[in-house]
Amino acid sequence: METSTPGSALSTGPRRSDVRDLFPALGTTDIYLDSAATTQKPRPVIETVTDYHRRATANAGRGSYPWSSRLATRITEIRAHTATFVGSAHPDEIVFTSGATAALNAVALCWALPELRDGDQILFNPLDHASNVLPWHHLRTLLARTGRRIDLVPYRTTPQGTADIDDIAAATGPRTRLVTVAHLHHVYGGLTDVARLRASLPPETLLCVDCSQSGGHVPVDVRTLGADFAVFAAHKMFGTPGTGVLYCARRVHDRLLPFLPGGDTGVRLTAAGLESTGMPRLLEGGTPNIPGILALGSALEVLDSLDRRVIAEHNRGLTRRVVDRLRPIRGIRFLPGPAHTVTGTISPGYGIVSFTLDGIGSQDLGFVLAEHGFLVRTGAHCVRPPEPDAAGDSVRVSTQIYTTVEEVDRFTACVASIAEEIT
Ligand code: ALA
Repeated sequence: METSTPGSALSTGPRRSDVRDLFPALGTTDIYLDSAATTQKPRPVIETVTDYHRRATANAGRGSYPWSSRLATRITEIRAHTATFVGSAHPDEIVFTSGATAALNAVALCWALPELRDGDQILFNPLDHASNVLPWHHLRTLLARTGRRIDLVPYRTTPQGTADIDDIAAATGPRTRLVTVAHLHHVYGGLTDVARLRASLPPETLLCVDCSQSGGHVPVDVRTLGADFAVFAAHKMFGTPGTGVLYCARRVHDRLLPFLPGGDTGVRLTAAGLESTGMPRLLEGGTPNIPGILALGSALEVLDSLDRRVIAEHNRGLTRRVVDRLRPIRGIRFLPGPAHTVTGTISPGYGIVSFTLDGIGSQDLGFVLAEHGFLVRTGAHCVRPPEPDAAGDSVRVSTQIYTTVEEVDRFTACVASIAEEIT
């Protein structure tokens, strides 16, 4: 059964059956509601990965024969496409990494480690994904070994699950070198107005934006956001695990150290040490994840064809539906996010809703839901709050363009019947 929601792209976007057919793993009886953990893979991505292994497998750009040079050319094309996709004017601002975690660690190790001085500050959200928290703590530890003490200054999250821009602005001072922020929060589903945040910061303060969740959900334009660094996780945008993207604005290129120096890294060896021969290869090294980058290329083509504005609208409709149907259930408590209104107006949603249900732990609720065929993530979702009890476990439901209204209706009905049984 297909049902459309008034005002959502469900009735105006690509035909639902065509979209579903793109994702072969959706043909099972299970209902996948964990797209924030990883998205399903569309056929073109699966075929690209299979084809690479089945035909003309070679290392890219390491040989003068056509199999190798064709791969190098294709990776160059995908780098250019990635730049356009994220709003960068320069493909040399696009670094391929092993994931968003590696990309954030690259910012810490390649820009911050050589750059930060005693007394400098980084502003961060302790309730962000650990990959946007622990690299900064690791950096602080490394700097302390060389006698430099930096401050990691936490900022608050709003009830809508976004970064508290006023709190960040109030905490920013002359020693604030970097603000790091999640664009779309992976648990709360709040989309931070990063352009407004950028406008509130001094121009010399750099801005790092974790676009792991937003990259495949909403149009992202790094120049509009004013990002100096932005990271993306390919596997959360229809690509495969082990591939990420670091956008690194040209204005910081001459302040970077290499990330993983090795084969093909953009450095020359001088008497003084390693000297950059240019981006993006300065931050790359070793054989790249060739099938992963090829898969990213196909994933971007699928995202372009589906249109991220349509994806955003579809997820917005589903998010509202999830919230509206869960809200009346006795014992439901929403974490920050789209269930919380801003001065009477409804917060928009982007396909992520997290909640708890009184009378049952979230892990147990997850098991019961899985028994009924609903695949959701439970637990702390890689959040490491400073006080262990500050952010407990929850159930997170997350959607994508292939999620149907019927699926979320069946899910919310199941939660309602579980709630009835335990009260
Ligand atoms: N970072 C992924 C998530 O949020 C795994 O679930």
